[in-house]
Amino acid sequence: MGKRKSRDRWPELCKLVESDDGLMVRSVGQWSEDKLYVWNRYIEITTNAMVGKPQWPNGLAYIDLFSGPGVCQIKGSNRRLPGSPLLAAHAKKPFRKIILCERDPPTATACQTRLRSLSDCPPFELFVDDCNAMIDNISQAIPRGALSLALIDPTGLHAHLETICQLSNGRQVDLLILFPDAIDAVRNTEKYYLPNEESKLDLVFGRGSGWRVGWNQLPNHDASTIRHWFYKFYCKQLREQAGYSHFGEKVIKGRHGPLYRLVFAAKHPRGLDFWEKVKMKDASGQLDFNF
Ligand SMILES: C[S@@+](CC[C@H](N)C(=O)[O-])C[C@H]1O[C@@H](n2cnc3c(N)ncnc32)[C@H](O)[C@@H]1O
Repeated sequence: MGKRKSRDRWPELCKLVESDDGLMVRSVGQWSEDKLYVWNRYIEITTNAMVGKPQWPNGLAYIDLFSGPGVCQIKGSNRRLPGSPLLAAHAKKPFRKIILCERDPPTATACQTRLRSLSDCPPFELFVDDCNAMIDNISQAIPRGALSLALIDPTGLHAHLETICQLSNGRQVDLLILFPDAIDAVRNTEKYYLPNEESKLDLVFGRGSGWRVGWNQLPNHDASTIRHWFYKFYCKQLREQAGYSHFGEKVIKGRHGPLYRLVFAAKHPRGLDFWEKVKMKDASGQLDFNF
């Protein structure tokens, strides 16, 4: 393991949640640490650079559409990790507001209890419902004129393109989206999504996207061809339907290969500069050459 630079707060953030607080945790695979590390780096780099800047007098807002309980535990171990809402709450240069959505009531209660127990948590609002159904209310909770960072972290094909369009309409919202390619789309497209025009994939790509035309034109349906094509098609949809113009990605791998892809999208080139910096390290604090 490489030597971490002292400003890497990951070990410190993990320490904050290492003892059992008796609340629900989310049981995760080891690879989730890579995802959370990346997300935390993105939060730190962006808040450090942008909080207090005159061009954002209304500050930065944090949006998490699939918030979880606030603490994750790696399966088969005692290792506990701060979940995404806690990472946002601990940003050194604070968000003006934290906006969360979690469909499962007990999970939402655990998250709320944890945030309330922090002495310096920014103001937060938690919606307990399906984020696709609540997106109007969620969007209205965003402070006018704020720069927003949104994490969209579902376990499958659950974040509709329409939801993302509504969230970002008329606002500067940089996105980090988990696209479940290897764990869902690659396995299920041929059998379940292709024959059903109301499928989950249709909602994720947006109704009437015409994805089947591109799918049928692929030279082959090998997993790597499919995954690459999904990424390109998803970016096209984010560009054409939601007005995004700058994209980045990171493939998250498990023991047996790729699991899912993190898709970064911004409307402004500065967002992509931050993402490029995020990409330079992995969860061990080492330079990451696998991007
Ligand atoms: C992968 S977890 C999120 C993990 C979280 N980002 C973290 O760091 O711990 C996905 C969460 O979304 C919730 N969920 C699933 N479908 C949802 C929906 N349609 N709207 C809101 N929450 C949903 C699940 O109950 C689960 O807690």
